[in-house]
Amino acid sequence: MFESDLLQNKIILVTGGGSGLGLSMAKRFADLGATLVICGRTPERLTSGAAEIQQAGHGREAFTFSCDVRDYQAVERMMAAIIEKAGMPNILVNNAAGNFLAATEDLSPGGFDAVVKIVLYGTFNCTQALAKHWIAQKIPGTVLNIVTTYAENGSAFVVPSACAKAGVLAMTRSLAVEWGVYGIRLNAIAPGPFPTEGAWKRLFPSAEFGEQYKKRVPLGRFGEHSELTNLAAFLVSDGAPYVNGECVAIDGGESIAGAGQFSQLMQLERGMLKKMMRQMRGS
Ligand code: HXC
Ligand code: NAP
Repeated sequence: MFESDLLQNKIILVTGGGSGLGLSMAKRFADLGATLVICGRTPERLTSGAAEIQQAGHGREAFTFSCDVRDYQAVERMMAAIIEKAGMPNILVNNAAGNFLAATEDLSPGGFDAVVKIVLYGTFNCTQALAKHWIAQKIPGTVLNIVTTYAENGSAFVVPSACAKAGVLAMTRSLAVEWGVYGIRLNAIAPGPFPTEGAWKRLFPSAEFGEQYKKRVPLGRFGEHSELTNLAAFLVSDGAPYVNGECVAIDGGESIAGAGQFSQLMQLERGMLKKMMRQMRGS
């Protein structure tokens, strides 16, 4: 789909890049010529992730930094260390997240805090700590924030995540305007369901729920990681220099399927539905 050197000479930091979609994006970016830096809290996950990224990147070194994005000082220290060891990142992907299913009346203050601090504060911390360097040194940069489709509409049983992702979306759009003058662009991707161990073990209570879930998606299936990583590569690349402040949903049509008042007719067998429509027209 892309020239093999699409991201050559780019240094890309992916938060939470040791697993799931973050790792898939990091591998795709490395394959397209970028130098990758990943961070997360679990050193073993970073080490194994870096080995996969290095392989995808045709042997190019991948850098790892153990860091909790909730801690602003730690993030600032990490940015300084990245610049020293790997060079100045041109691209930041805020992918690290926390989430779990909970009835909101049972949620402890600490539970709300944990998710909002990772998602909303973590995104702010990484974005501001890196952009300060970009702005001071007049370096154009690109930020890609991974949100969710329910950042727009909210969702039951994931209230901390919905609040935090909505905040990240507002941050994306606000800074796209505020920092456009510095040549910094910010965009977001809102993924539908893409199987990962991290999301599935926290959000999908059973295999049966997963099968039922697919029926919500007009395309009738979950997303494939390569579909999302292609979109991410395009948005962060120099092929999309005028895309700024945009949020692209990649969800097989899931998020709009529930919105149309007559979309529930999809549940009827198509031949039967057409027969009903002919009868209505006739009468
Ligand atoms: C209720 C819970 C809970 C649960 C933790 N807590 N798990 N409350 N239900 N299942 C509460 C704890 O009681 C505690 O509050 C507080 O949250 C912090 O818990 P810790 O275990 O100390 O936190 P920590 O080790 O920092 O872990 C953070 C975490 C965890 C968010 C709770 O799940 C995590 O590390 N997640 C990272 C990866 C992840 O979530 N990936 C999924 C992303 S998928 P108290 O008050 O007792 O101290 C996604 C969108 C998917 O975002 C959309 C799919 C379609
Ligand atoms: P995942 O594998 O659990 O990824 C989350 C990553 O974030 C992990 O590598 C985790 O590593 C890291 N992380 C968590 N807390 C952190 C912290 N405090 N500091 C630094 N790193 C931290 O889940 P995923 O499904 O790939 O999710 C990736 C992104 O896609 C998230 O933003 C998620 O909201 C979004 N998303 C996913 C789906 C989906 O269907 N999978 C749908 C919509 C949106 P450590 O635990 O080692 O720190």
